Amino acid sequence: MADSRETIFNHAFVVGYPIKHSRSPLIHGHWLKRFGIEGSYERVAVSPENFEAFIAGLKSGASGFRGGNVTIPHKEAACRLADVLDGLAEELGAANTLWMEEGRLNATNTDGIGFTASLDASHPGWDGVDRAVILGAGGASRAIVQAVRDRGIGEINVVNRSLERAMELADRFGPAVHAHPMSALSEVCEGAGLFINTTSLGMDGEPVAEMPFDRLLSSALVTDIVYVPLMTPILLQAKARGLATVDGLGMLLHQAVPGFERWFGQRPVVDEELRNLVIADM
Ligand code: ATR
Repeated sequence: MADSRETIFNHAFVVGYPIKHSRSPLIHGHWLKRFGIEGSYERVAVSPENFEAFIAGLKSGASGFRGGNVTIPHKEAACRLADVLDGLAEELGAANTLWMEEGRLNATNTDGIGFTASLDASHPGWDGVDRAVILGAGGASRAIVQAVRDRGIGEINVVNRSLERAMELADRFGPAVHAHPMSALSEVCEGAGLFINTTSLGMDGEPVAEMPFDRLLSSALVTDIVYVPLMTPILLQAKARGLATVDGLGMLLHQAVPGFERWFGQRPVVDEELRNLVIADM
């Protein structure tokens, strides 16, 4: 039987610290309106020292939320404090989506599947490549490495400024994932069919060094998780070489889908109208 709380509350949150800049309320607000659901999705600023109490309020039902999204700096703590982790959250050690079910707090991480869903929507068949290059080894990279590995890409080369961090990531995700220093970037790009930037390079308006995109397959797809600006310096370099590109906005929109479906019971779509709404807000 469904938890009685589920029939009472139609409220979800995004919790972070700071949280002002989150675009999630715009996305979920759009879908709530689209479905005519009387509910809310609100920003909640919670400092690290108060996060455990916030989760306690969620579990007891006192806060009135059905679930929500978790962002920086709480993704690891959310994973620790949840009662039930799915396989993705458990392996990553980080959760971005929480929901109450039968009195227990469930957690998953939708960042990686948001990324792959974005590629599925714009370039179906993208996962037919043999080799991928992933630049960066931070939290976003972890979720993307996991999702790309789960789609069966046989060789994933992670290149990072700190080699140690790339090595930790390779150890965590098994034999398909290899760690390299920045100096190996050109070499690992040779013959690769997918290039993913997960670093903040290009976000601050600073120029970005020339990427060795001449080494990629001519059919390669280049993606960037940075979405401000939409056309990042890395994507512009790829375009100049005639390569296909995918911007980072799709990942942001698609990672929101599973949460909305959990909390509000309807599966929303990512369409041009939503994309344009978020672009207009940038
Ligand atoms: P996120 O959770 O958003 O992925 P993060 O954990 O801070 O953020 O990771 C940022 C990534 O961008 C890291 O791979 C970082 O490299 P290091 O691990 O060596 O720090 C990378 N990064 C950030 N600024 C960079 C720069 N100027 N040049 C190269 N890599 C950079």
